[in-house]
Amino acid sequence: IIRLFSQLSSQSTPDAFGIAFDIDGVVLRSEAPIGGSPRAFRRLYDDSGNLRIPYVFLTNGGGISESKRALELSSLLGVKISPLQVLQGHTPFKQLVNRFENELIVAVGKGEPAAVMAEYGFKNVLSIDDYASCFDNIDPLAPYKKWITKQVADQSRAVAAKDLVLSQRVQAAFVVSDSVDWSRDIQVLCDILRTGGLPGRGIGHQPQLYFAHDDLAYQAAFPSERFGMGAFRIALESIFNRIHPHALEYTTFGKPNPFVFKNAELILKQLVLSLQDKVQVLNPANAGGHNFKTLYMIGDNPAVDINGARQAGHPWFSILTRTGVFKGKENHAEFPADLVVDTVEEAVDFVLRKEC
Ligand code: G3P
Ligand code: MG
Repeated sequence: IIRLFSQLSSQSTPDAFGIAFDIDGVVLRSEAPIGGSPRAFRRLYDDSGNLRIPYVFLTNGGGISESKRALELSSLLGVKISPLQVLQGHTPFKQLVNRFENELIVAVGKGEPAAVMAEYGFKNVLSIDDYASCFDNIDPLAPYKKWITKQVADQSRAVAAKDLVLSQRVQAAFVVSDSVDWSRDIQVLCDILRTGGLPGRGIGHQPQLYFAHDDLAYQAAFPSERFGMGAFRIALESIFNRIHPHALEYTTFGKPNPFVFKNAELILKQLVLSLQDKVQVLNPANAGGHNFKTLYMIGDNPAVDINGARQAGHPWFSILTRTGVFKGKENHAEFPADLVVDTVEEAVDFVLRKEC
């Protein structure tokens, strides 16, 4: 990071402000860059490709590790992005490692949900694919499903996983990213949740359930928005509440929770301070805390990105683009942004004109 920031331009005052970029519907639609994003990001670096403006990605999406996401974004946008700059919906799951480090947990969602959790330090995690494959006939629709689920390659590992699953209770389920197979995942999660973590074995105390976020919809490649994790949560909750005497208990992370914005501010501070570590030698007055004058949140979803920035309060300033969930002419009525622009490129242009 120090190298990344070592040549931060001295003309601008980058430590007075920082930027948080939403990804889906602002920077990308599925895998395709939108709104002039590669051009916009290049402006945050100097001619030698060194970062000159502190920024992070603040996305509710995920399913792969922050380091892999950083590589993926670097190649899509043509700039050098550090894993520290990638804050995903599931990134705060790290904080639960102490509680579940050695407990059996199940990770749900597209991508590599179990690998993500293992990288955070959870030692006993299975993806819901691997978990479900330990139970014969748990999904009666499986024979009708045309896709093939990746099997555990190593046979001895598969047997060990099966022994573990049939003898140990699941202590928590983590919905890391969007569920790929709602029917199977809702069935298996209900099994886990109502039996106290041992499907097929009567009723038990509900294990913990965590969602990386609660987005009802998000902007993918299709012109209108698609159902997100919040829609999956509603489906699971409605069914669970019909089959169980107690209402489903769960915790959701992600935007618009104000703690997500607090955390983004801390990471941006950390990025700036790692730069100042170098400068301190010359100027001891730079030591100590750091406060931003303005932090810009650039998002496309009024209820999530703009609502979150508004709740987080000072120093957040919200910018709403028209490339994603929001497609209105005027500002959003319920969650008005501080500024509405067409694209992320326009948003970056505004910030740089104001700050540099
Ligand atoms: O699944 C991802 C989506 O719900 C939100 O992503 O980048 O718009 O916060 P983003
Ligand atoms: Mg978005």
